[in-house]
Amino acid sequence: MRYDTITVTPLTPAIGAEISGVDLATHLPDDTIAELRRAWLEHLVLFFRDQSLTPETLVNISRRFGEIGYYPFVKGMEKHPEVVEVAKKPDEKINFGGLWHTDTSYLELPPMGSLLYAVEVPEVGGDTLFANMYLAYESLSDGMKRLLEGLRGVNSSEKPDAAVTRVHRIADRPKDTTDIVTTASHPIVRTHPETKRKALYCSDAHTMHIEGMTPAESRPLLQYLYAQQQREEWQCRFHWYPGSVAIWDNRCAQHNALNDYHGHQRTMYRVTLKGDTPS
Ligand code: SIN
Repeated sequence: MRYDTITVTPLTPAIGAEISGVDLATHLPDDTIAELRRAWLEHLVLFFRDQSLTPETLVNISRRFGEIGYYPFVKGMEKHPEVVEVAKKPDEKINFGGLWHTDTSYLELPPMGSLLYAVEVPEVGGDTLFANMYLAYESLSDGMKRLLEGLRGVNSSEKPDAAVTRVHRIADRPKDTTDIVTTASHPIVRTHPETKRKALYCSDAHTMHIEGMTPAESRPLLQYLYAQQQREEWQCRFHWYPGSVAIWDNRCAQHNALNDYHGHQRTMYRVTLKGDTPS
């Protein structure tokens, strides 16, 4: 694909591209934003280096990609409630988002995308893995694709492995969640509203069972799909430096924040982009 205003360097054949020639703190021309979106749809996650963002400029650039959504469990910053600070402190052992997932798929309207800006990161470790869910779907046999047609996954925020990854962040900045429903049923295969490609949309982190089946009945099929989703041919790995930014598409990509840097601080600013009903 040809780009006139940005330079796009793929990280792997499957997913991820580093973008250069762009200062996200400035008001970018519409044609640059249009090219960034085209690159985003092609590569699923875009990475930027050496950016210098404040919570305010992060919100501004996020708005150029879509309407800002919310993260249900952790309060945003005092002056910028759209931005959630995600930190792992040196004395903590559990990190936020440290398992394969697509963000908050337990919401009725799960987010289209998310932006993450690195403020403070360990010198080594703390990378994030991303995986392409189109390729995970396309790798399945025709028989398996037919079997999955019409199946829905019941997603919940309460799966223990995922729930534990947010405990420290909730303790720091709890939010009133009494009105929020955190269970939602979504198609196991969703069609991306912009590219029209099909992607696997269940996750080890949030999918409890297949609708209409017990967890025990669902498990063998779901475990098979999770293994397909996590194959390394669909992945890229991103190392963060202060000033790095990632923008990922939750509709067709999953990610996993590696937890290999105990004793070091890692602080990120995170913004969520509103999504639609998966179909
Ligand atoms: C997340 O799941 O949003 C966290 C990703 C990361 O910290 O690398």
